[in-house]
Amino acid sequence: MLAKESNILMKDRSGRKINYLRISVTDRCNLRCLYCMPEGELSVIPQKDILSYEEMLRVVKVAVKLGIRKVRVTGGEPLVRKRIDYFLKQLSTLEGLFEITMTTNGTLLGEFLDCLKWSGVSRVNVSLDSLDGDKYRFITGGGNLKDVLFGLYTAVTRGLFPLKVNVVMIRGFNDDEILDFVRFSNEVPCEIRFIELMPVCEIMNGYHEKFISIQEVMSVIKEHYNLELLPPTHDESSGPARRYRIKNQEGIVGFIGPMSDNFCENCNRIRLTADGYLRPCLFSDREVDVKRMLRSSSEDKEIAVAIEEAVRKKPQRGTQCHAQHQFSLPVGRPMCVIGG
Ligand code: 5AD
Ligand code: SF4
Repeated sequence: MLAKESNILMKDRSGRKINYLRISVTDRCNLRCLYCMPEGELSVIPQKDILSYEEMLRVVKVAVKLGIRKVRVTGGEPLVRKRIDYFLKQLSTLEGLFEITMTTNGTLLGEFLDCLKWSGVSRVNVSLDSLDGDKYRFITGGGNLKDVLFGLYTAVTRGLFPLKVNVVMIRGFNDDEILDFVRFSNEVPCEIRFIELMPVCEIMNGYHEKFISIQEVMSVIKEHYNLELLPPTHDESSGPARRYRIKNQEGIVGFIGPMSDNFCENCNRIRLTADGYLRPCLFSDREVDVKRMLRSSSEDKEIAVAIEEAVRKKPQRGTQCHAQHQFSLPVGRPMCVIGG
């Protein structure tokens, strides 16, 4: 089946194979990370504008026919949306979809772990930007570090591997915790992924001072540990992380540099926003309205045309364009809508 279906893989104008769809199932979240949610009064997407699970499943079904093989469920916080177990279970029954993963803030992970395992989620990425309770509360707008740690430990003891932890690096906030995170990756065990801060939301104020490059993070680690470069694994051959094993230790560290690395040339993804727009690139507001079609009597082939249009609109470069503009172009919509 795979060999036959590989004939219908989607390619964009630059020849990149597009086989990965990220779906933001909700813009709601039980936390409020400073770099993700806008400050002040939160303008959530009205409930009626959020796609129903049936609508999302219809898009995925068509996308799989066009060559999408992997779906990542994101948010907001995906685990706060009602009946998320139903959605995941339905996703897992779609023929041709080989992997379902999730990005979560981890606070509800302990509670949902069995549900994730039953519903065929193979891997989760957990966001955790500080190992200090007070700092964690600050950056997440009130979160409790113990909830995430409980979620992470439960995931490890129940064998949801490999476990990846996303750490967004912010100078003056968590740059003194780099080595703590490396130790954490040995203890838990998990893969720590240091991510460069991107210029969205409130973080735009004083962005230059808060930005730390992954090269700088790596050089701090190299002063204390030997890092051995890992070859890309099959499913991550086109993923953005550069991964290293820490010599003589359990842990793995990954470095994701959306601002300083040029990983656009290997980008294989498109996104579906919670309110029904296909977004070809995180850094480009060239969206395609698919909700309009889902809510009129459009046929699947018209949905397919919309997906292909989004793929066609994928810019050759997104992040580099930002770097050239000295980070002066904020992403048009908050991360919680686009799905991080
Ligand atoms: N910069 C970098 N990463 C971000 N994320 C969200 N906002 C930003 C930002 N401004 C990513 C983080 C987080 C996930 C939900 O989205 O990796 O863990
Ligand atoms: Fe919620 Fe994740 Fe955004 Fe934090 S980064 S506010 S946990 S969606």
